[in-house]
Amino acid sequence: MRKPIIAGNWKMNLTPLEGETLVKALIEKVADAKCDVVVCVPFVDIAPVAAAVKGTNIHVGAQNLHFKKSGAYTGEVSADMLKAVGAEYVIIGHSERRQYFAETDETVNLKTLFALENGLIPIVCVGESLAQRDAGETDGLVSMQVKAALKGLSAQDAQKVIIAYEPIWAIGTGRTATNEQADETIGVIRGAVAEAFGQETAEKIRIQYGGSMNAKNCQGLMQMPQIDGGLIGGASLKAEDFSIIVAAASDTVA
Ligand code: PGA
Repeated sequence: MRKPIIAGNWKMNLTPLEGETLVKALIEKVADAKCDVVVCVPFVDIAPVAAAVKGTNIHVGAQNLHFKKSGAYTGEVSADMLKAVGAEYVIIGHSERRQYFAETDETVNLKTLFALENGLIPIVCVGESLAQRDAGETDGLVSMQVKAALKGLSAQDAQKVIIAYEPIWAIGTGRTATNEQADETIGVIRGAVAEAFGQETAEKIRIQYGGSMNAKNCQGLMQMPQIDGGLIGGASLKAEDFSIIVAAASDTVA
């Protein structure tokens, strides 16, 4: 049985003080969660948010990292820096980074390898555009993205990775994939993991759905057999909504 994981992706929102206020409101609401709870916050929010949730069941993540240990990379942030301020997770290859910041399957792979080598848990994002879905390219594309992201990993390391399936047309649009669409494509991704690493790894790896998941549609999505949690953008900025999603994931745990 895979433990569900709900991760908030705050994107470029909330100052350190605003972030601290949000997680303080969240602590009590998710204290009984039976799933993993993570908030992936802007770099400058990590230290104060990690301090605010210390000793609770809320874990903290970043939204990006660089794939080198240190050096002349102006504007970048290293794995050591993230860990030093309390991050345990890191989102890698979000579609917004692929679209606006030239992230490629190759850099996603380098970052995934580097995060794991340095003790951070990667949340690797994959997903198709609407044009790709309409052209029937979804299954081939997400399979390729997942295999490229996990290239060179041992099966043991691959099992530590969280994959987030996020159809680009569902992100921030209010248009969610149907429960069946999300479940089916996540099944395809699990199949690609099986091809690359074997059945055992495919059964252990956790795959989230992301894209306009909210307090209203989370129950249906979380009940689907392939969906192991959610990567939540907009709805993670409200303590009440985020805690409802955490509760929906907890309800699926026997
Ligand atoms: P959304 O974002 O929930 O606001 O659609 C999800 C994401 O981009 O991770």
